[in-house]
Amino acid sequence: MFPSAQTFSVEDTDIQLWRIAPDEGPLNEYSFSFKAGELKFDVEVKGEVTPEFYHHEDRGSHIYEKCSRFVVNGRPAYGITEFHYRNMNGPSYTLPSCLPLLCEPRDLPSELDEALTLPFTEEACGSSPLVGGKGAQLGLLSSIQHKEDFVVTKGFSITLNAYRQQLQRESSIVTAITKIEESFRIGTIQDTQSRCSDTVEAIAGSTITDSVRAAILSSMEEVFGADFEHSCVAVRSSASGEDGTEASGAGQMETFLGVSGIDKVLESVSRCWASAYSFQAVQYRRQNGQPIRVLVGVVIQEMVKSEVSGVLFTNHPVTGSADHMVIDASYGLGEAVVSGKTTPDSITVIRDWTDKVTVQSKQIGAKKLRIMVKEGGGLEERSVSGEDMCCLSDSQIQQLCQIGIKLEKYFGSPRDIEWALAGDQFYLLQARPITTLEEVTDEDLIHEFDDPLITDQEWLTTGNISEMLPGATTPLTYSLFASAIDLSCLEVGVKLCGSARYHYPRKMLLSCCGHLFINLMPNESGSMNNIFGKKENMELTVVGETLADLTEDSVKSYHGPFTSRLKTIINTIKYLTSVTPATNMKCDDWAKKADSYEVIDQSSGCLQMYRDISQYLPDYTEVWKVGVLKSANSGAWAAAMFGVLLQGKTEYSNEMCSDVAVILSQCQDVYSADVPVAIQGLARSIVASGLEDKFLSGDDQVCVELLSDNSVPAVTDLYKDFMKRHGHRYIREAELMEKSWQTNPERLVQVLKKIIKMKAYQERQKTSFSIKDTIANLKTPLTNGEKRSLKFILPRARRAVGEREFGKSLCVKVADKFKQAYWRLSEKMEQEGRLPEKELLFFLTHREIGQLLETRSPKLLTKAKRRRKLLPKLMTLSFPKYSIGVPKPKEQESFEEQRKPTFTLTGMPICKGRVTGKARVVKTLEEANSIQRDDILIVSYTDVGWTPYFPLLGGLVTEMGGLVSHGAVVAREFQLPCVVNVPNATHLLQSGDDIILDGLAGKIEKLEGTSTD
Ligand SMILES: Nc1ncnc2c1ncn2[C@@H]1O[C@H](COP(=O)(O)OP(=O)(O)OP(=O)(O)O)[C@@H](O)[C@H]1O
Ligand SMILES: [Mg+2]
Repeated sequence: MFPSAQTFSVEDTDIQLWRIAPDEGPLNEYSFSFKAGELKFDVEVKGEVTPEFYHHEDRGSHIYEKCSRFVVNGRPAYGITEFHYRNMNGPSYTLPSCLPLLCEPRDLPSELDEALTLPFTEEACGSSPLVGGKGAQLGLLSSIQHKEDFVVTKGFSITLNAYRQQLQRESSIVTAITKIEESFRIGTIQDTQSRCSDTVEAIAGSTITDSVRAAILSSMEEVFGADFEHSCVAVRSSASGEDGTEASGAGQMETFLGVSGIDKVLESVSRCWASAYSFQAVQYRRQNGQPIRVLVGVVIQEMVKSEVSGVLFTNHPVTGSADHMVIDASYGLGEAVVSGKTTPDSITVIRDWTDKVTVQSKQIGAKKLRIMVKEGGGLEERSVSGEDMCCLSDSQIQQLCQIGIKLEKYFGSPRDIEWALAGDQFYLLQARPITTLEEVTDEDLIHEFDDPLITDQEWLTTGNISEMLPGATTPLTYSLFASAIDLSCLEVGVKLCGSARYHYPRKMLLSCCGHLFINLMPNESGSMNNIFGKKENMELTVVGETLADLTEDSVKSYHGPFTSRLKTIINTIKYLTSVTPATNMKCDDWAKKADSYEVIDQSSGCLQMYRDISQYLPDYTEVWKVGVLKSANSGAWAAAMFGVLLQGKTEYSNEMCSDVAVILSQCQDVYSADVPVAIQGLARSIVASGLEDKFLSGDDQVCVELLSDNSVPAVTDLYKDFMKRHGHRYIREAELMEKSWQTNPERLVQVLKKIIKMKAYQERQKTSFSIKDTIANLKTPLTNGEKRSLKFILPRARRAVGEREFGKSLCVKVADKFKQAYWRLSEKMEQEGRLPEKELLFFLTHREIGQLLETRSPKLLTKAKRRRKLLPKLMTLSFPKYSIGVPKPKEQESFEEQRKPTFTLTGMPICKGRVTGKARVVKTLEEANSIQRDDILIVSYTDVGWTPYFPLLGGLVTEMGGLVSHGAVVAREFQLPCVVNVPNATHLLQSGDDIILDGLAGKIEKLEGTSTD
């Protein structure tokens, strides 16, 4: 395992065990080399610190475990070495005997590809590429029956090649199949259904080609003798790709039992072939991302006159336990058991490690239905009265279990076996792998992407990051966004603080239960290790409050020695003179190319699209690096400003916050602040051009056309301009699954309609102050020196906020190109039958998408479906603002008691203004539609995606956020009275509450009245 957590297996080593571990015990000093991940490692192991050994007499082994020092390629390391010796003084131990693994034949002569039928007795019948899954299992089982205690009745397989020939001759079948595939792209589920039944009829109705028919007849004669007309056979489908370890495809296709007479046999063969295209079989393949075109083999096999039959799982089919085997058994043919038509006996058996089995429980089933073969062919179903005895004796159970254990060893994995008992003889009819093993639990999936914590002193915060990406992320977003931000933060750390320690594989951005957290510790050391630095200032910008419990000493003991003062100064100068200009240049570069940037060619196939996305992915990280560096810049200037205003104190006061609010209310060119202004402009132009009624009465789709079809050029120009500038944004915009306004313009239309309907489009006037006036009006009493510092810092801090907002918009714009590319890829994959639903793509990591394209693994799809099901649950989790060690979700608290008739909440003042109005608590986006004009919106957080709603509002209260969070910056620019960082506001207040919001004092007062609308 490398520090990056990538794992490679050892490819080669020169280690000589007999030299370093002689009989008398392992050496204390030795060296060796190995290769892994195409790198060579030279390892010296030097004298152990504490030699210890354990003596496991009963298992006959003798273990030396040593704590050792290593030098790996010149670098020191510590670790444990472990040597196992046979304990010669222990009890004698005999190795368990092994059975030869039963493998499918390989390197068969190529002429066998042309074979039309293959009897079980031929080696080639064990090859699933020739005869399909079931045929191959029966071939393999036949080959060992003479050595074991079971029988496989005689029979043969009709090959996949025979089916291919049949299809080639009947072009109508090929057309019918093509039409099924077409229906996935441009049809409804009913279309698929009717095209499937057309295909089934086309295949079942076509006459079998002469050559295939002749081959079947000759095999019938060869296997069943001259009187084959009167033999009673089973005709069973054997699909290619079936019975794999990932998806069984169990019971999807037809089986005909008790078939007699050649005409009936041939008809059954056609029906088996046809059943591959039944609606249920097609849907099953589609749900599992398998190709729709499959080839089907057919098995023709003598019927067993079974008195009792059923299934045996050599591991527990539900729990996967290897200590348990489960048998389901009933009278008559096994069809009654596998089809679920009767309640069989269910026997659970415990198996110990010496393969001794004992019955643990027998659940006696009613076994009311028996299916038997009629004299002269055909089946009959007989109802019998309930039976309270087990249909297998204890010795038969023992015998069957031992057969199962043998088969598990032959195949090398647990099996799901179909068996029949006639007289005293067990017959085997199938032995497929159990596909439901190794299933992960929901708990595993919830923590699947959790990052490990390196020490128990990691302080994790939801601050800042939860504004960018509140709630849980999809796996795709985790795999892209989290790592891009993590790398970007690391880069800031290295560039600003220049310490090699930042290269240490410590994650800056961690995940837990799908939520993202910033690791404060490296940030703390970073903030104290540069010349701007003061830890409180960083805490204010990142967490939104100062952390008195986290002392400077604990940061120092966590981090180790800091860089020297001189080095810090040099780092800062370098940062300002080279890193910042380089970032600015990169930002300009991206600003120029972002509009025309394309990740994929829309017309490519899936694989090409995936390759293109992979190739461009470094850009995704690069552009976020620019955004994060810009944001760090603004953070540094904001921290410097806090530094002056805090005047050496460690806790911020309300005066200080409102001073910051005043200072930052005059930022320059805040790109995102244009969003609510531009949407108002668009609303005004719709009203002015007389489109209002049409717009308000039209459905969302029609309105989008109205906006974009140039019927009123002034409106279309404004709309296009809005889309060009802000179309890439939306709520939770860092989440790749969330479509932007551009991709889903109906979402924007809904807000626009509200603004027009409520006439909330009057332009707001903004007053501006000079820097001198601003400083003169601050509440914090400042010395002349402090005023001079502020005069220097203030314009820079304001500009940095503007630049940060621009940088963020740019990142989201480029990220939106990736979003669009993934959505396009998902569409294509759905059309090609590789994904049952587009949305599932977002529940795979980028790497897993690649694996799915390569393997069509049904297991991955199942996982994606389960992850999707869990996301709503993860979304409801909320975490404390900061935690030490692994974050734990907050318990659902009840706020009933705290909700007195009147109360006051406090938070951080963001934008002045005192307003009285109705509270509107919005917890999900869907609820945003209930917003009424002049409501005071109470939400958990706001990002730029929320800002189109701002024109409707009288005020804004958020639970999260800090002085310079994105929502706060826009509110200030828009002069919307606003208080952030009000804990539990969405729980304590309810929609309809009469409240007073004081933006300058940072207070929300709940009045007596509450009305529901
Ligand atoms: N030669 C046979 N003699 C007696 N019974 C048979 C024979 N072949 C099949 N059966 C019975 O019919 C049942 C169903 O057959 P088969 O295995 O072909 O189809 P399935 O189990 O419904 O689907 P799948 O294709 O997934 O196995 C078997 O479990 C077995 O009990
Ligand atoms: Mg079966």
